[in-house]
Amino acid sequence: MGFSKDFVWGCATASYQVEGGYLDDGKGLNVWDICSHVPGFVRDGNNGDVTCDQYHKFKEDVKLMKEIGLKSYRFSVNWARVLPTGDVKDGINEAGLQYYSDLVDELLANGIEPYLTVFHWDYPNELFKRGGWLNPESPKWFENYTKVLVDRLSDRVTHWMTLNEPQCFVNLGHDTGVHAPGLKLPMVYLMEIYRNVLLAHGHACITIRKYTKKPCEIGFAPVAGVDIPYTDSKEDIEAAKFSMFAIDSPDMLWKNSIWMDPIVLGKFPEGAKEYAGECWPNFTDEDLKIIHQPLDFFGMNSYQGNTVKHREDGKPGFEVLKREDGYDHTAIRWPITPKILYWGPVLFYERYKLPILVTENGMSNYDLVSEDGCVHDPQRIEFLKRYLREFKKASDVVPLKGYTQWSFMDNFEWAEGYNERFGIVYTDYVTGNRILKDSAKFYAEVIKTNGENL
Ligand code: FCB
Repeated sequence: MGFSKDFVWGCATASYQVEGGYLDDGKGLNVWDICSHVPGFVRDGNNGDVTCDQYHKFKEDVKLMKEIGLKSYRFSVNWARVLPTGDVKDGINEAGLQYYSDLVDELLANGIEPYLTVFHWDYPNELFKRGGWLNPESPKWFENYTKVLVDRLSDRVTHWMTLNEPQCFVNLGHDTGVHAPGLKLPMVYLMEIYRNVLLAHGHACITIRKYTKKPCEIGFAPVAGVDIPYTDSKEDIEAAKFSMFAIDSPDMLWKNSIWMDPIVLGKFPEGAKEYAGECWPNFTDEDLKIIHQPLDFFGMNSYQGNTVKHREDGKPGFEVLKREDGYDHTAIRWPITPKILYWGPVLFYERYKLPILVTENGMSNYDLVSEDGCVHDPQRIEFLKRYLREFKKASDVVPLKGYTQWSFMDNFEWAEGYNERFGIVYTDYVTGNRILKDSAKFYAEVIKTNGENL
C-alpha cells in the first residue's frame, strides 16, 4: 500500500536543545539553564546558552527545511521564555511569545506545518523552587501556560502535543537525577509527580479544545518503548506485549501502559495500584475523567528495542534475547533495531486504536566535515532506509499519520552535551554554520517520492 497521500514527513527539535538566547528579551531561567551551569552536570561542561542559536537564526533554518521539502516541523516552546517565572500571574513576556508567533508565520509562509510541543523538559526555575511537579498547583500552572499559547497561536497552529516523554523528565530528572532538575526522590514523591503530570496533560487538552480558534489535532509524545517478537508466533507476540504493557514490579514509571492507559483508555493498568502499594497517589474518579481526554494521534518517540520471546515454562512473561555479537549500533551506542517501526505501530494501535505519528526517530553518528566541505553520513541514510521500510510495511495494517525524524539539526543532547550528533543538518557550533548532510538530501528524496524510493 505504502504511505498515504497526506502522509506528513517532518523533523523535530526541542527548545532548550536548539534555541540559545539564554538571557534574551526578558526570558526567565529554566531548570536546564541552572543545572547545565553546575560543573559536572553535562559532559564537557557544555550548556545550551547558545547551542544552534535558532532563536536568532530561525529564518535561515526554515529556509533549509524548505530546501529539504519538510511538510512539518515539530518544535517545543520554552515555558520561561513566554512566562519568565512560569506563572501567568507574574506576567507574560511579550517578546518571547512574539518569537514563537514569528516562527509559526515563517513556517507557514514556507508551506511547513507547525507541530507544537507545549513542554519538552525546560521547566521554569521559579516554579521548580515552588515545588515544581510536586506542587498540587502544578497542573494548574501548566493549564494556564497552555492557555497563553492557545490564545496567541491557535489561529495558526493546529497540531499540538502536550508533553514530551514524561518517562524521561520524571525518571531521569527526579529519580536518577542525571537530567535537570537533578533530583533523586523516593517513589512516594515520584508517584505524586506522576499524578500531577497526568493531570497537567488532561487540563492542557481541555484548554486547547476549549479555546482553539481553528479545528485542531492533539496528541502527546511519550517514550514509546517497543519490543520485537522473536518470531511471528502468537506466543512471542504475547511476550512482546507483556514486556511493553504488563506491570510486574513497583518499578513502573518507564512502562508504556502506566502513562498511556489512563490517558487513552481511561483506566490504570492492572497491577499498578497493587505494586505501588502505599505510594499510590490519591487519584479520584474526577481526576481520571480529566486525564482521559480524546486524542487524535498516538505520538511514538522510538529509537531502539529489545527482541523478546515467550518463556519456555509457558508462564506469562518474556525472555529478552541476547544481542548478536558485533550488533549494529549508533554513536550513542543505541542498537539499530528497525523492526520497532513495524511492531510499535502494530502493537500500539491494537491497544490504543489511535492513528500513529512517529514523533521522534533517528540516530547519532560520528559526523564530520570532509575535505570537500560536505558531511557524508551513509550510516544515517542506511538507518533511515531500514527503519522507514519497516514503517512502510506497517502502513498495510495500521493507519499512519506521519514520520518525524529526530533531529532537524545537531543540537544540545542533554547530559551528553554536544557529543552526540543526531541532525540531518550539521551544526558547526564554533561558526554557527549549518551544512546539509547527505542524509538530508536522501530524506528530501524520500519526501519527494512519498517513500517510493525506499
Ligand atoms: C529523546 C528526547 C529528545 C532527544 C532524543 C535523542 O528522548 O525526547 O529530546 O534527546 O531523545
